[in-house]
Amino acid sequence: MRHLLSTKDLDLETALGILDVAEDMADVANREVKKLPTLRGKTVINLFFEDSTRTRTSFEVAAKRLSADLINFSAKGSSVSKGEGLKDTAQTLAAMGADAVVIRHSASGAAQVLASSGWIDAAVLNAGDGTHEHPTQALLDAYTMRKRLHGDRSRGKSLDGLGVTIVGDILHSRVARSNVWLLNTLGAHVTLVAPATLLPAGLDGWPVTVGYDLDAAVDSNPDVVMMLRIQAERMHAAFFPNTREYSRQWGLDDDRLARLRADTMVMHPGPMVRGLEISAAAADSSRSTVLEQVANGVSIRMAVLYLLLASEGGAA
Ligand code: ASP
Ligand code: CP
Repeated sequence: MRHLLSTKDLDLETALGILDVAEDMADVANREVKKLPTLRGKTVINLFFEDSTRTRTSFEVAAKRLSADLINFSAKGSSVSKGEGLKDTAQTLAAMGADAVVIRHSASGAAQVLASSGWIDAAVLNAGDGTHEHPTQALLDAYTMRKRLHGDRSRGKSLDGLGVTIVGDILHSRVARSNVWLLNTLGAHVTLVAPATLLPAGLDGWPVTVGYDLDAAVDSNPDVVMMLRIQAERMHAAFFPNTREYSRQWGLDDDRLARLRADTMVMHPGPMVRGLEISAAAADSSRSTVLEQVANGVSIRMAVLYLLLASEGGAA
């Protein structure tokens, strides 16, 4: 593995390998000194052309826990406002000596372009490209499900037979896409539930079941319900009547929450818009894994940085 661009590229062995290394990395977080010397002398660049709270900071924490040097770049406040493009921005930062570039960009395919263009000689990690993919999000989601199911010692275990229902703005969601591919590889059964306007055309090739009724999905006894934010920043038309109506039909409200099993996982990648796609009670309930997902994100990002950088040409 030279880059991490997509979960579609990951076979079962590689995916489980990442989850298992993340389990080892999680042990570091429980130590008094939360640091390993593994990536001393390596430089990681966070190249963020889109806003982020979790992904950017957790890559930063992950790189620092592995003793790498970390440079944070945000397009806002940079020379991008003067007209500098992706190639020149990436080459400028890479000229300072980058071993890995973590990129988030609004254009689908931006990470792939950076990895295959030859512009820079560094491992590329996709931290979200347009509506395409967000592979470390799906990995941390799978890790969170595995940990809730099997506990701290889950090494080698897949998600065979797990029923995962993903709800909301599938059309614009890179989280949904990365989860669909990875969960399928790990043996889970994925159901997508959304208004017809927020489902992509051409779902034929996707290994999923599709539904349009959240109440029916809630009553079908799912093991996991993953709620998605409406990606308003990617919407250039009206996809539903209004937010109140969306919430009534597609939100995980208190009534729907109460109908889920006590051990059904309620997941959300964040950021959440409380009262819209998820109620405050659902977000804060014992079923909710939202903050576990954030904590596990550090372990997953440590694992992928380690696997890509710890040995010449990558360790996986
Ligand atoms: N943070 C996730 C993403 O960047 C999900 C979201 O923003 O709704 O794709
Ligand atoms: N889940 C996620 O990617 O969050 P951020 O957009 O805050 O990084």
